[in-house]
Amino acid sequence: MKTLIVFFSRSGRTRRLAEEIEGRLGSDIEEIRESKGRGGAIGWLKSGMESTRMMLPKINALERDPGAYDLVLVGTPIWASNMSSPVRAFITEHRDRIQEAAFFCTGDGDDPGKVFGPMEELLGKRPIATMGLIGEERENPDSLKKIEEFVERVSSA
Ligand SMILES: Cc1cc2nc3c(=O)[nH]c(=O)nc-3n(C[C@H](O)[C@H](O)[C@H](O)COP(=O)(O)O)c2cc1C
Repeated sequence: MKTLIVFFSRSGRTRRLAEEIEGRLGSDIEEIRESKGRGGAIGWLKSGMESTRMMLPKINALERDPGAYDLVLVGTPIWASNMSSPVRAFITEHRDRIQEAAFFCTGDGDDPGKVFGPMEELLGKRPIATMGLIGEERENPDSLKKIEEFVERVSSA
């Protein structure tokens, strides 16, 4: 099965998880990038506002075509109890060409289900697997059984 990981990360935690999954799956990987930054307090406020208002920021064109893959793993940080706005923009732009999907997220304390529900609704497809790393779990991603189980579910799809 041809698999692509697509993720957004503002401060590196979701990137680390995405790379951990990539290492285990041997899949292709692509980071969602923007030309405008989200650093500092202003970037934090902007990000929270965009997520709350379900805004669609402009994201850069991807190098890989998600439509050329059997399965796309979409990773996001939790923002304001929802998906990050760049991931909302990605799913909105590419949903018609995504064949199968799985979701993963990182967050400080929220229930990951708050993010996966809206992602499923926006995509219009049920993910084959989901995984959220919350709070301290994020700091030791390689030691977690959760990643193994997620990768196993994705690999056996
Ligand atoms: C604007 C903003 C809003 C956030 N809102 C939430 C939230 O509602 N619930 C939560 O658990 N974490 C929230 N977080 C924390 C991030 O989800 C968490 O730190 C995540 O692991 C960051 O991932 P990253 O390093 O890949 O950007 C928020 C972070 C930002 C920047």
